[in-house]
Amino acid sequence: MKARAVMKALVRSKSGGYRLADDIDIPDPRPGMMLCRVHAVALSPYDAKIVDYSNTPGAVGGCDFAGIVVAVGEGVTRFKEGDRVLAVTFGLNASDKTAGAFAEYALATEDLSCHVPNNLSFVQACSMGLGIATAGLALFQAPGLDLEMPRPKSADEDTPSFVLVSGGATGTGTMATQLLKVAGYTPIVTCSPANNVLCESYGATACFDYRSSTCGADIREYTANSLVYVFDCVTDASTMRMCYEAIGSSGGTYIALEAITPLVKYTRRDVRADWLMTPTIMGTPVEIPGTYGRPSTPKHRIFGTELFLLAEKLLKEGRVKNHPLEIRGGGLVRIPTYVNDLRVGNVRAKRQVVPLVRPDALKEIPLVALDRYCMKMRAVPALDPKQWIGELDIIDVNDMVPKFLAKAYAHDPHKPFAMHNYCSENRYLLSDLVGMYKEKLGTEMDVLPVLK
Ligand SMILES: NC(=O)c1ccc[n+]([C@@H]2O[C@H](COP(=O)([O-])OP(=O)(O)OC[C@H]3O[C@@H](n4cnc5c(N)ncnc54)[C@H](OP(=O)(O)O)[C@@H]3O)[C@@H](O)[C@H]2O)c1
Repeated sequence: MKARAVMKALVRSKSGGYRLADDIDIPDPRPGMMLCRVHAVALSPYDAKIVDYSNTPGAVGGCDFAGIVVAVGEGVTRFKEGDRVLAVTFGLNASDKTAGAFAEYALATEDLSCHVPNNLSFVQACSMGLGIATAGLALFQAPGLDLEMPRPKSADEDTPSFVLVSGGATGTGTMATQLLKVAGYTPIVTCSPANNVLCESYGATACFDYRSSTCGADIREYTANSLVYVFDCVTDASTMRMCYEAIGSSGGTYIALEAITPLVKYTRRDVRADWLMTPTIMGTPVEIPGTYGRPSTPKHRIFGTELFLLAEKLLKEGRVKNHPLEIRGGGLVRIPTYVNDLRVGNVRAKRQVVPLVRPDALKEIPLVALDRYCMKMRAVPALDPKQWIGELDIIDVNDMVPKFLAKAYAHDPHKPFAMHNYCSENRYLLSDLVGMYKEKLGTEMDVLPVLK
């Protein structure tokens, strides 16, 4: 008898929360799906909420992943074995316990996946699927803003067509800002002033401080009382109130990502307000108890197919980029801790990503003198071992934030790399190093744990 093929995966435990299981059957790719070796996963506050609300013991968690296709199901034509792919899936799914990204292998739906271009690492790519799906539905579908994509050409096309993104520095917000810009709209955002530059770099035309008591009025003044469309990525009573203040006197449309407050909703009858659940993009019913459940919405699936094709093109052309990343080590077992950081609001203007597989290039690197607290840095793309730029000796390991002393070298290991000056005598947070690297080389760095 053939042995069962099993994998490690984070599943919902009977008592609540995530549990690492090592005996989950590796799923077979069904028609229209691909089985993928998961190389990296991204975490979202959605993962924190869903594990509390859905009662699906044994179901695999996680929504966002990137990896390599290892088998394709019947009817799949866009992808083949060996392709690099990013996908959105909806973990802790009552009707399909095998859906979910937090696993060694995951199923990608062909229609809701993109080829990963060569200039994007798995760590970057894994952070994009949920943002694409959520921002896409919120902006271009009902019950979202139902905007036309692209913005129709008209006589007044030089007039800005403002769309407010409340929470411009959220992962969903930076994707929404980029999609709006691509579609020909004029995104304006709310964020902390410290994130103005970040939001502008994703295409925001103006940024407003959501902590200011005049935020809504300031936006109304800036838009000359003409704002009609608002996407609230944060959604609480105070953001909703601020958005209502910002919408012009002709009324408008407000779409949110959480249940909305009736008290605010009915303060203006000229505003149509609603909230959405991204899993409707699958086209099947969303089986989550209470207000989170949704009937099947086949038109969202049809839209999703077009959206992911468009996203693939935009990624290839470099017209959309990932949210800033916080790369976290430790693999699947550490994810529940990182999800908890999201629950308590410890992660700001960053998408947490967890690499699960080391690239083949790593195996070709002599690992002498590396112990379990060592990491290697690599340039991206890093399939050529010559791209390795050095090694980092971690000198203090705090579970949440590894601090280390870096010995960094140029691609030629005999030439000191510019970062050497920055790092050799100081301790830096991993996130600082990633930022410095990007500033110096204009490209992202992956930092991956090296096993002895
Ligand atoms: N309904 C669905 O299906 C669905 C799907 C995906 C996500 N979601 C939900 O969407 C929300 C956003 O998720 P995300 O991953 O995009 O968020 P995120 O990246 O984790 O958001 C973090 C950012 O939120 C910003 N923020 C906090 N309070 C704010 C306020 N009052 N006004 C403006 N910005 C504020 C902070 O910006 P600053 O640093 O600038 O202060 C912070 O950097 C979460 O609640 C998530 O659960 C729902």
